[in-house]
Amino acid sequence: MDDLGDHDIVVLCVLKGGYQFCVDLVDKIKALSRNSNRTLPMRVHFIRLKSYLNDQSTEDLHIVGAEDLSFLAGKNVLIVEAIVGTGKTMKALLKHVESFSPKLIKVAGLLVKRVPHNSTCLPDYVGFEIPDRFVVGYALDYNEYFRDLNHICVISESGKTKYKI
Ligand code: IMP
Ligand code: MG
Repeated sequence: MDDLGDHDIVVLCVLKGGYQFCVDLVDKIKALSRNSNRTLPMRVHFIRLKSYLNDQSTEDLHIVGAEDLSFLAGKNVLIVEAIVGTGKTMKALLKHVESFSPKLIKVAGLLVKRVPHNSTCLPDYVGFEIPDRFVVGYALDYNEYFRDLNHICVISESGKTKYKI
């Protein structure tokens, strides 16, 4: 609120994994606005990325249905991402978003993995730092499974094998 308050912002939710965190974060910001004399009018926009196969980050990041984001020009943008692993996804997304000349970009990440090489791209706001394990639940998936778990947990080796593609 201190960083972005008093300007309307565009919340850019990174799908699919970010939807649950985005809903909860937007609700929280709305509650804070209601209970203070500051308001933070928000637009919410969705962008879909895909980069993982099984538990491995792949080189080819897809922005699914990449569309014209030129309405971001001059805006304060809050990117909402569930998890940052290697940081490759965030780096590529930031490059893409920057090309539309927003005024300010901030990144909120619920989880950041402690991996040796992700120092290049850390979110401005981090919920939790977690070990470098593959986690599922709270909208995070393993090959599209387990998004519907209410909690976040580490997938077991037998689970990985069972749901491998
Ligand atoms: P990065 O490019 O390695 O930082 O990976 C970021 C993206 O990969 C996130 O947007 C997630 O969709 C996905 N991802 C990374 N680690 C996990 C995980 O442990 N569980 C589920 N998805 C993950
Ligand atoms: Mg995924």
